[in-house]
Amino acid sequence: MSVNKEIKRVTTHILQEMKNRGEKIAMLTAYDYSMAAIVDEAGMDIILVGDSASNVMAGHETTLPITLDQMIYHASSVVKAAKRALVIVDLPFGSYQGNSKEALNSAIRIMKEAGAHGIKMEGGIEIAESVTRILTAGIPVMGHLGLTPQSIYKFGTYTVRAKEEVEARKLREDALALQELGCFGIVLEKIPAQLAKEVAESVHIPIIGIGAGQHCDGQVLVIHDMLGINKAFKPRFLRQYSNLNNIMNGAIKNYIHDVKAKDFPNEKEQY
Ligand code: KIV
Repeated sequence: MSVNKEIKRVTTHILQEMKNRGEKIAMLTAYDYSMAAIVDEAGMDIILVGDSASNVMAGHETTLPITLDQMIYHASSVVKAAKRALVIVDLPFGSYQGNSKEALNSAIRIMKEAGAHGIKMEGGIEIAESVTRILTAGIPVMGHLGLTPQSIYKFGTYTVRAKEEVEARKLREDALALQELGCFGIVLEKIPAQLAKEVAESVHIPIIGIGAGQHCDGQVLVIHDMLGINKAFKPRFLRQYSNLNNIMNGAIKNYIHDVKAKDFPNEKEQY
């Protein structure tokens, strides 16, 4: 299916209409101006400034260390490049858990200082007060359930979540609760496809999956993973659309070779 060129700016209402008519939603991360411009130009519906920036941009092992200031820096670069896509920004670990006033302040900073269009936060019923407070301020909120990487030290591993009925039931309840609170969509990460299907069918808001199977209303991936920049990360759910690591490595080696061989710059490449 081709990109709908008539959309000037994707909104949460347009995403809802897409779910209503069964049109899949494409979402991808970006963290800087140049990448975001390419992603937006290609026709992406949602650009997520994910806290995965902590891993792929800053080199941390987990998403926990990234700060609100750093997220705002990444987000403001992305917003400048996004002409069509809705830009959603992760509230980082420690900027919203357990304190709804702080959560609102964090969300307001992201909207005001970065110019984002909405925020995403991990968790279900336990963050209901913060979600409500942010929504009351008129800020669109996206939920995130299943494998929530900010809780990695609680889970202990990055394996598939909600395989057992107790966790699956809590996830179903959380999805309904987030919908009732007023979230415009929910990301489901690394859960069984059948459970994601049930959730997508039981709520009316868009469900965006990552490692959650083909029945979600849309899909999201981390751009470094799908472009093959990260060589080592190859989970089963990932489709690599390029091998940029090899391509970039080859180009950089050629440059080194040309400099050493006194071939670059040549006469035409100088003043
Ligand atoms: O931070 C991120 O990139 C995310 C996606 C994996 C959904 O939350």
